Amino acid sequence: MKVLAYFVKLALVAPLFAGFTHGKLEGCSKSIAIDITGIYENGDTKTYFHYCEDLGDGRGYTAGIAGFCTGTGDAWEVIQAYHKLTGGKDDFTPMDATLAKYAKSGSDSTKGLEKYCSVFEKLGKSDTRFQQVQINSRDKMYLKPAQDAAAKLGLKFHISEGQLFDTSIQHGPYDDKDGLLTLIKETNNSFKANALGDSGSTLNINGKNVDEIIWLKKFLDIREEHLKHPKNPDNQGGNYWAQTVYRVKSYRYAIDQKQYNWGNTAVKILDNDGKPTTVKCSNVPK
Ligand SMILES: *[C@@H]1O[C@H](CO)[C@@H](O)[C@H](O)[C@H]1NC(C)=O
Repeated sequence: MKVLAYFVKLALVAPLFAGFTHGKLEGCSKSIAIDITGIYENGDTKTYFHYCEDLGDGRGYTAGIAGFCTGTGDAWEVIQAYHKLTGGKDDFTPMDATLAKYAKSGSDSTKGLEKYCSVFEKLGKSDTRFQQVQINSRDKMYLKPAQDAAAKLGLKFHISEGQLFDTSIQHGPYDDKDGLLTLIKETNNSFKANALGDSGSTLNINGKNVDEIIWLKKFLDIREEHLKHPKNPDNQGGNYWAQTVYRVKSYRYAIDQKQYNWGNTAVKILDNDGKPTTVKCSNVPK
């Protein structure tokens, strides 16, 4: 199942946070988090550096590992970063003026971009620099904001950090109606008293002691509500979101198995049909 269409696409704004000291999803735990989200998004753990399609969803062409779009500005960010490595002379260059124009105006037009997908597919398959640029862009746009939010919360478990990354990818990393930061805020605000547990990690939320896993379970409940009743349905592929509650159920399953830290171990989750599946540390750059 190809569901890249439903990435939340927002015009790219300057990174919201400066510091990046937490850095807990790295190496194996990062690769596992990305592969889990890959299963939810694409049905498998392959990398889609060469994916490119006009989905007719008002965002122009959607392409690459994080569904970068020509009509929202994030694809232009990726291509500009690639130009830095090629000295500005590569197969995208003839399309620069058009790409910049559509990024700026938020246009979903594909006029003048007739070669865009064939170039994206070719370079996505063959040029490791282009692949690395996509990885860096995804990390900057989606992983880093999730990790910054995790650091502010004081999260200690990979499973919580993986969940914030997965939410960042699907809901977007910002504080708009269904965005990651809004979900975190609603979760925080739901704790009016201490909520003690036995996970071994206690967060300080608005002066209350809250067990990290109790916090995470509440976050999943709130995310499920947003998936079933998006506050901004325009932005999320209509009622498609309600069908993606499997990704919340899958994380709940991993919590029930107490798979809090991922390290070098394989993690068992539920696939999109609700069947247990194992995600291992990958040696492919993710
Ligand atoms: C959630 O709570 C933590 C800890 O009190 C705080 O640092 C963080 O800013 C809050 N997050 C949001 C998005 O409100």
